[in-house]
Amino acid sequence: MCESGPMRIGVLTGGGDCPGLNAVIRAVVVTGKRLHDDRTVGYLDGWRGVMERRSVPLRPNRVSHLLARGGTVLGSSRTNPFATDDGPQAVVKHLAQDGIDALVAIGGDDTLGVAQRLGALGVRAVGVPKTIDNDLSGTEVTFGFHTAVQTATEAIDRLQTTAESHHRVIVCEVMGRHVGWIATYAGIAGGADEILVPEVPFDVAAVCERILHRHERGRYSSIVVVSEGAMPEPGPDLESATAATSSSNVDQFGHAQLGGIGEWLAQEIERRTGYESRHTTLGHIQRGGAPTAFDRVLATRFGVEAVAALHDGTFGKMVALQDGRMVRVPLEEAVGKPKTLDLTLLSEVAAPFFG
Ligand code: F6P
Repeated sequence: MCESGPMRIGVLTGGGDCPGLNAVIRAVVVTGKRLHDDRTVGYLDGWRGVMERRSVPLRPNRVSHLLARGGTVLGSSRTNPFATDDGPQAVVKHLAQDGIDALVAIGGDDTLGVAQRLGALGVRAVGVPKTIDNDLSGTEVTFGFHTAVQTATEAIDRLQTTAESHHRVIVCEVMGRHVGWIATYAGIAGGADEILVPEVPFDVAAVCERILHRHERGRYSSIVVVSEGAMPEPGPDLESATAATSSSNVDQFGHAQLGGIGEWLAQEIERRTGYESRHTTLGHIQRGGAPTAFDRVLATRFGVEAVAALHDGTFGKMVALQDGRMVRVPLEEAVGKPKTLDLTLLSEVAAPFFG
């Protein structure tokens, strides 16, 4: 099917915010209008805005200044329509009442998973892959990742000089719930002495041994980068770390609030090596602020491609980057299983510089 005439497009941003969301919104609104005379409405706060029928009209002059602005002017939430009995029906009803021909859903695994499930109810949608964690399958990279890595790298650079001055070990905890892309890229870029990721449970004793060895060789400071989702190997350390970091705050998609592994690890390193240790948690600093040039370009390409996909009648797909080119992959290929780290980055590129 080919939709060549003007469309009424709904756009929403769901999940954790991410630098580049506004650049996608801008690209959808501007290219939709200029190339196809589309009209675009923005739903507020992700799927919650569709469930509650809250939207704003988006015109090119309203979004033209958004390219460099972090966050999302539409607001975001982790509301899941499928968490309530009448949520999916409310979405279908409100889209029909608003005359929406198709949706652009900008989000990560959860937001796009909802778009996929709504397809079975007749909702026509194209997904745009967003997450600083870079853990969506089907695309080489998500927008926001590059900016988060840049922010984390600059932080590690700063931690290096204070660690050196005080002969300390500093553990830097970065985001990365299921995967260690941010930790590995920022760790390599910042010259980290250890990088610990969720994909590879770590041995605390071995980490301490390598730090001791390094300090015996005359290097009196070390930087350890740890993903928030990294955990020790099974055993007493895992039990201790779990007790220190577990949270009862769980969102509608079942994700617990993470954080604390950096603090736990810094205490363990100090206790076992005798070296004064500190921890820094970068947290949401990695998600806020202006996107890098790379992310502005990627977000714009995704937005342009999403509009093209809608007008080609290509629904139920996510726009993606593969081999440097824009492609469209089925939503079911993108959601459900995280894109884990290429472990050779750790073993072949990062590890030779450890110790
Ligand atoms: O966007 C993904 C992510 O950055 C994860 O790495 C992190 O666990 C989560 O968001 C935290 O989000 P929030 O504090 O908004 O719940």
